[in-house]
Amino acid sequence: MKRLISLLLAIALLLSFTACEAKPKTDDLGGSNSSDVDNKKPSSSKFKRTDAELSYDEDAPSLYEAFADWFEVGCAINTWNLNDKNSPEYQTITKHFNVFVLENESKQDAVQRTEGNFNFDAMDKFVEFGEETGATLRGHTLVWHSQCPDWFFFDNGKEASAELVLERMKTHIRTVVDRYKGKIDTWDVVNEVIGDGGGLRDSYWVQRVGDYDGDGDKYDFIEQAFITARECDPDARLIINDYSLESSEQKAISMYLAVKKMLNDGVPIDGIGFQMHIGINTDMDVMRRNFEILGQLRDIKPDFIFEVTELDMSVYNWGDNNATEYTKDIRNQQTQKYRELFEFLIEQSEAGYLDSVVFWGMSDNHSWLNKDNQPNYPMLFAREWKLKDCYWEVLEVAHENTK
Ligand code: G3I
Repeated sequence: MKRLISLLLAIALLLSFTACEAKPKTDDLGGSNSSDVDNKKPSSSKFKRTDAELSYDEDAPSLYEAFADWFEVGCAINTWNLNDKNSPEYQTITKHFNVFVLENESKQDAVQRTEGNFNFDAMDKFVEFGEETGATLRGHTLVWHSQCPDWFFFDNGKEASAELVLERMKTHIRTVVDRYKGKIDTWDVVNEVIGDGGGLRDSYWVQRVGDYDGDGDKYDFIEQAFITARECDPDARLIINDYSLESSEQKAISMYLAVKKMLNDGVPIDGIGFQMHIGINTDMDVMRRNFEILGQLRDIKPDFIFEVTELDMSVYNWGDNNATEYTKDIRNQQTQKYRELFEFLIEQSEAGYLDSVVFWGMSDNHSWLNKDNQPNYPMLFAREWKLKDCYWEVLEVAHENTK
């Protein structure tokens, strides 16, 4: 039966993929570890909502403690959130989260805006906070096409050579990873290298470095980034991070093929980061299928790991610029989707695939998804740090699954 499902999955993937613009090979896909999410579990009588109203109330159950059997729970912060230990944000993040990542301050443009001039003020403060709290720290990100200064790619106004671009990339990685060796636990070594239609993103990195080793692919800057990071910190977890891996089959397949090739070539990639910028209409069946596709990387590297790295749940469809009221109906849909998601994430953890879930922000007020004239409501905590229904719902999921 499992083989039949695998075969059907492979055929379905092949048919859908050949209709797409980017066409990586699909002949080595297949396999399934699926089982349907059970949405009808009765509420656990063990769990009682407290009277807590605010995220930092003493009686508000801690998220990371509730999920400790399955994964760590984290959030993206900015160093100004750490200024006042009595502030709601400081109290909230230290109560609910045990993994942290900087939202912007460890990106290339923040750390090395001009060549050779490194600014480590924010990262030092972040690491100090990590040492004080004992939290797991993620470094985001060593190599990206966005928030990366143009000087990496130009040489006296002309296109820089592959050698020069690689040397600059390695210098950046060495300087940063060496400084925080043993202090930053996990690095998003490269970010968003897969294009929206599948295949490699046609970034300056790909354009300049290309097929440097002449082996027929253009993964070379990625390979060199991982090799360099591993040389600097043999114990850090090294992640390839991307968005829409849970929703786009083309992206999941392209990521699978790229990582498979690199793992087979000995490139030290430890796992995949699913950013998970999802919405209240996210299709859980597609998410499950894409996790299955990428889960097959375990055939090559048995301890290959998944992390959820930038979770949020928009109440808008992508590209919709109209503001909406956060109605009871929308809140209910979001609460149900958060339930389905956390049930799925627990399953992934129990199957050994996942051990970290990080939100991209803290409260509805602290999220990149808020736009001028279009407030968003993507997080578990409301604007005034009130506890939302979806917060209580994910805790309920944790309690239902506690053995
Ligand atoms: O700091 C400047 C400020 O001086 C200036 O006045 C202001 C005017 O627009 O811009 C400020 O910079 C902004 C920066 O965030 C800090 O707030 C940039 O314009 C803005 O583009 C930047 O957005 C960040 C975005 O990455 C950039 O691509 C978001 O905060 C950040 O949440 C977002 O994070 C990314 C992850 O790194 C990768 N995955 C997707 C995720 C969401 O886009």
